[in-house]
Amino acid sequence: MKKLVILTGAGMSAESGFSTFRDSGGLWEKYNVEDVASPDGWERNPEMVLDFYNGLRKQLMQAKPNAGHQGLYELEQDYDVKIITQNVDDLHERAGNHNVLHLHGELMKVRPVNRENEIYTLTPENCEIHLGDKDKNGIQLRPHIVWFGEPVPMIEKAIEWTEEADIFVIIGTSLNVYPAAGLIHYVRKGIPIYLIDPQEVHIPSGLPVHIIHKGAGEGVKELVQILKSHL
Ligand code: APR
Repeated sequence: MKKLVILTGAGMSAESGFSTFRDSGGLWEKYNVEDVASPDGWERNPEMVLDFYNGLRKQLMQAKPNAGHQGLYELEQDYDVKIITQNVDDLHERAGNHNVLHLHGELMKVRPVNRENEIYTLTPENCEIHLGDKDKNGIQLRPHIVWFGEPVPMIEKAIEWTEEADIFVIIGTSLNVYPAAGLIHYVRKGIPIYLIDPQEVHIPSGLPVHIIHKGAGEGVKELVQILKSHL
């Protein structure tokens, strides 16, 4: 089976009712990123940070995988599908995809502030954390999210997957945030690259990219047709 590697961003989940970050009406218009997604913001006002992520989890509980997520799951019949997502939601997993790597962490997971690898999973019934919620050693819990300025431990694995891709697809990301945006440079020469996004996205020059100017649902449908015709 050919290896199909897919990089997704917030636009992948937009049709599921989950906000993007940089579109008008996106999350970073409503919140100051420094306040809710940085180690400094956490130092200044941890309660505000916890509230922000508690709100996002509530939004996620209402969201369902959309036609785009479902289409990517169906591609597993014909391809070895690997998804590298910048999204912290679990909609790819809920659609059924088996190989999902979360570059920026996972909304439904939390960890003590002093440990990277002691990770707890929240449940839909109990999906809030507050100041005073601690691990078994009495250490405050924080969201298992990669904040701005923090290392991105999963990038090494993402690079490995990208280097092995036979087909590379980018869906719903403005390619503004590194190191995720730099993954495209690890795609081997001659490998087809597809990009699905209703807006213009800046792509490093010289890279031949087949652009599908559609939202995730319709765009993935078109991608599936193209890939099927090449099987
Ligand atoms: N289908 C596909 N793409 C869409 C749709 C849709 N229905 N609606 C919007 N988009 C596109 C936008 O045109 C834009 O190019 O999704 C992209 C979203 O870009 P951003 O909001 O910048 O999100 P993303 O690229 O995922 O951000 C990267 O930055 O804020 C941090 O950590 C956060 O993971 C996030 C990272």
